[in-house]
Amino acid sequence: MIRIMEPGPLQLGVLASGRGSNFDAICDAIDKGQLQAEIKILISDKNGAPVLQKAANRGIKTLFVNPQDFTGREDYERLLVEKLHEARVNIIALAGYMRLVGPIFLQAYANRILNIHPALLPSFTGLHAQRQAVEYGVKFSGCTVHIVDQGMDSGPIVMQAVVPVYDDDDEESLSERILEQEHNIYWRALQLFAQGRVYLSQRRVIIKQIATETITKSSVV
Ligand code: GRF
Repeated sequence: MIRIMEPGPLQLGVLASGRGSNFDAICDAIDKGQLQAEIKILISDKNGAPVLQKAANRGIKTLFVNPQDFTGREDYERLLVEKLHEARVNIIALAGYMRLVGPIFLQAYANRILNIHPALLPSFTGLHAQRQAVEYGVKFSGCTVHIVDQGMDSGPIVMQAVVPVYDDDDEESLSERILEQEHNIYWRALQLFAQGRVYLSQRRVIIKQIATETITKSSVV
């Protein structure tokens, strides 16, 4: 069993491609003191993604990197890793980052890249997970925070939340219900890392309890 991180405030790097509601929820948790972390940099692969403006408004360093400017994924990821190292990032949260992560990245931040997926993994991987759930006819779906590995939405699971699926749900209404839970669990999962409570045993994530001080008779006056 390995401990992924020692306790201490996270030096977070966020990668996102879109609207950034998960990014916002993470920032709010930091502002409220619920999550011990500092966002060192927000990187987007999409020019003009709303998340870039959201980060700038909060005074967070932003960077747009166009993958098309590189000959291959490796060069693109090498630059990203360089920027993340420069910003002293020690853990990464993918928040609606619409790209598969390659070996360069995975090696640089082994077991320290997290993602949130809008389904109860291992069900409904990939795009349109909420639509897949509605079409399949499951009665419950939800969201999953997981450690990123070389597969698609296949890494060790840190935390999940469940929501019901109703008969009159469509992709949009289910997405909305799931999103509320995404905002509720992503920062909580990150906080477990900040507390140094996350261990990995094979592909199972084990969350250790925080040691509580033993109260002895002599210490109670
Ligand atoms: C979320 O549904 C997340 O689960 C998925 O992409 C979406 C991103 O939404 N990975 P937002 O950009 O955080 O609002």
